[in-house]
Amino acid sequence: MHPKRRPILAGNWKMNMTATQARELASKLIPLVANVKERDIVLSPPFTSTAAVAETVKGTNISLAAQNLHWEDKGAFTGEISADMLLDLGCKYVIIGHSERRQYFGETDETVNKKVKQALKKGLLPILCVGETLAERDAGKLNDIISRQVTGGLKDIQASDMQKVVIAYEPVWAIGTGKTATPGQANEVHALIRQKVKALYSPDLAEGLRIQYGGSVTPENVSVLMAMPDIDGALVGGASLKPESFAALVNFK
Ligand code: PGA
Repeated sequence: MHPKRRPILAGNWKMNMTATQARELASKLIPLVANVKERDIVLSPPFTSTAAVAETVKGTNISLAAQNLHWEDKGAFTGEISADMLLDLGCKYVIIGHSERRQYFGETDETVNKKVKQALKKGLLPILCVGETLAERDAGKLNDIISRQVTGGLKDIQASDMQKVVIAYEPVWAIGTGKTATPGQANEVHALIRQKVKALYSPDLAEGLRIQYGGSVTPENVSVLMAMPDIDGALVGGASLKPESFAALVNFK
């Protein structure tokens, strides 16, 4: 954590929570995090529950993220969701290029980049996800993969838009597995990402960039992760599905 960067704690609910369940979870969470200041709290429900959560968290310190968007404005793209639809629901952020989308739904650096551009064009704040698989790490390709994903995801993004971008480092082997990267391992990659952004843009933009860690973050390990100099937040899956555990995470000491 760095005094200049505001921590951002986001709960990615993935394909969990009907609208009814989502409303209940959000209602229980609100009082548990009401006193949190100087930290951004974000919930990312599935599309069908977003309106229910938006209504529930209105006027609170919780903002909303979508889990995906399409890069076109509108049209014949069956099953897709546009930036305007998300903005209309009250979304502020959008998660882009999550490893599950890259792995199961064929997203590539190119499509991820189109989505980042579309989000910025429309005024949504992108949370660009990057991360290596275990095989890639074991093969010594960590730096290459992260550099490729960062450079590819940010291709043609203007410096003036970079303050709106959040990057999430999520080692694929740590997602939903209970295996967290050690704080040292995570920080090393965060520093690498920051270095890359410094080379692509400027020292100032790199210093201001918020980089979240994701992958089996829990109330138990969040504090040691957040104590690392280049870790500015957490993108949380499993532990965000219970109000008490997500609140504990957000309230980390
Ligand atoms: P996890 O998921 O916390 O369940 O490991 C993190 C993520 O995929 O965003």
